[in-house]
Amino acid sequence: MPSSTTLSTPPLTVRLTESRAEVDSCRALRRAVFVDEGGFDLTSENDGVDVRALHLIAITIAQSHGSDGRSSSDLSDPASADQDGDQATPDDSPLPIGTLRIFETLDGNPWVQVGKVAVRRTHRSLGIGRLLMHEAERVIMDRFPQHEAIVLDAVARQAPFYTKMGYVVDAERGVYLKKGAPHVRMSKLLRPV
Ligand SMILES: CC(C)(COP(=O)(O)OP(=O)(O)OC[C@H]1O[C@@H](n2cnc3c(N)ncnc32)[C@H](O)[C@@H]1OP(=O)(O)O)[C@@H](O)C(=O)NCCC(=O)NCCS
Repeated sequence: MPSSTTLSTPPLTVRLTESRAEVDSCRALRRAVFVDEGGFDLTSENDGVDVRALHLIAITIAQSHGSDGRSSSDLSDPASADQDGDQATPDDSPLPIGTLRIFETLDGNPWVQVGKVAVRRTHRSLGIGRLLMHEAERVIMDRFPQHEAIVLDAVARQAPFYTKMGYVVDAERGVYLKKGAPHVRMSKLLRPV
């Protein structure tokens, strides 16, 4: 079952994307968060991984039910409407609230990688990042039972968020530059011993 919650935002559902259009809307949110807001180069969004990744999408229940008689802009949280200036996907539907992607590395490592974790700026600190990470873990245990751990490259200043989710910094590797920003490698065992 996908994760759901009721926070001070509209009720949300967090689940795997179900269409190419949903993946595109997740990519639009990532561009807003990492490129427009975070200042990363657009090329970092086109690294070729998306086609082989699973994508989680966090959307309001209203968004997931599609048209309910309101206009598409009404479907986003009223508290957030257009404060970002980044509220539309390529087909003009509202941006998802959050996203992340899950993929296996190509070098045969016994782990699964999570990346591009993004929550809409107007919806942060509401527990949505946590919901995404929990659902990622559930999906990974379901789809990749052969793997031992989840690994991620965290922007160093966000490492405390992942620590709260049970991830541990690879201290031996330390801080390294990726896409021009300090990162740390973090991991979490799927079946702690
Ligand atoms: C990082 C991000 C995904 C967190 O999402 P969020 O929905 O705001 O996080 P949550 O509200 O679920 O936070 C869960 C917990 O982590 C804490 N937390 C979140 N970000 C944190 C940070 N940067 N430093 C310390 N703690 C943090 C919260 O306070 C909360 O703690 P609590 O459970 O004790 O209350 C979001 O801030 C984001 O999209 N940032 C921009 C993109 C980005 O940097 N992505 C990560 C790239 S590695």
